[in-house]
Amino acid sequence: MAFKVAALLSIFMLTYLLAPLVITSESSYPISLLVYNSLTNENNLTFTTNIAYRGILLGAMRNIQTVNNNFRFTTKEDPNYGPFLVSVNGLAGDNEKHTYWQLLIQPQNGTIIIADVGVGCYIPNPNDTVILKFTEW
Ligand SMILES: *[C@@H]1O[C@H](CO)[C@@H](O)[C@H](O)[C@H]1NC(C)=O
Ligand SMILES: *[C@@H]1O[C@H](CO)[C@@H](O)[C@H](O)[C@H]1NC(C)=O
Ligand SMILES: *[C@@H]1O[C@H](CO)[C@@H](O)[C@H](O)[C@H]1NC(C)=O
Repeated sequence: MAFKVAALLSIFMLTYLLAPLVITSESSYPISLLVYNSLTNENNLTFTTNIAYRGILLGAMRNIQTVNNNFRFTTKEDPNYGPFLVSVNGLAGDNEKHTYWQLLIQPQNGTIIIADVGVGCYIPNPNDTVILKFTEW
């Protein structure tokens, strides 16, 4: 009897514990990623993916990289600020040329905002377009 109660209880607990996971996987939402080299007249590349509820941008970028052969990126771990973007599709920022990949966010209303955190910390909102812009500083 005690065993039955314990078994029932653990099934109940399991359902209870797993419920948030099920809910979060259902409430994933779409974002777009735009790769833009502002220093050449290359065409922009656009990708879309679904991101987990309050998932980080880095995760979404890895998903895009997994399913698209024409999106590759590398990051470097900063001891204080976490991973930041180093290269996209083989093109890396260069200190001598003063070039880097800037992270911009364009929410649904079209305004473009400069992200104040790196790819490892930014949590996109539904329907955000994340712009990876190669530019000069
Ligand atoms: C690429 O995207 C940027 C940012 O949205 C835009 O300003 C630019 O005109 C686009 N370039 C091309 C060639 O479409
Ligand atoms: C657009 O949305 C962003 C974030 O949701 C907000 O900060 C910004 O003020 C909005 N801009 C306009 C013009 O509504
Ligand atoms: C995202 O965009 C889709 C398609 O335009 C729209 O149906 C949905 O309501 C948007 N989501 C949010 C949270 O604005």
